[in-house]
Amino acid sequence: MMRTAVYPGSFDPITYGHLDIIERASKMVDKLIIGVLSNSSKTPLFSPEERVNMIRKVTENIPNTEVVSFDGLLVDFVDAVGATIVVRGLRAESDFEYESHWAQANRLIRPNQDSIFLVTRADLSFVSSSAVRELARYNGDISLYVPPYIESVIKEKLNRRDK
Ligand code: PNS
Repeated sequence: MMRTAVYPGSFDPITYGHLDIIERASKMVDKLIIGVLSNSSKTPLFSPEERVNMIRKVTENIPNTEVVSFDGLLVDFVDAVGATIVVRGLRAESDFEYESHWAQANRLIRPNQDSIFLVTRADLSFVSSSAVRELARYNGDISLYVPPYIESVIKEKLNRRDK
């Protein structure tokens, strides 16, 4: 049986923290689908299409991954792509608190799906998309947070916005 997992998130933008989870999770399954949430209540810096393209670019060397955007409920997306596993990364206790509630709620409505959690690499536990956006807005150094390609796309986006 083919083992397919979904790694869902906002990825606004994708960070080295996400990439670490993607690399590790992709080795555990036959196929890893990176699900980009498009109906977030937050106002994103990047459109869903931009986020999908950025993720594709920095994951092109990881063969068994696919990047797809979704809206609606995560459990429905997982069904739609034929997956049964949801992967999430955990940085700190605060992540566990949030994640465990959703994992329990999702499992109640989809007993055939399960969530697995990978603990973030210690040297990346401070990395978040919101920190990247905040730092970039004030010209902070984001080179420890995102790959060079993503850094250039962020800078281009913010420069265009300021004009
Ligand atoms: O990267 P994020 O913003 O922490 O990802 C959150 C995400 C996308 C996993 C979560 O918001 C989600 O799954 N949203 C889809 C709607 C849904 O199913 N919500 C309940 C489960 S979290």
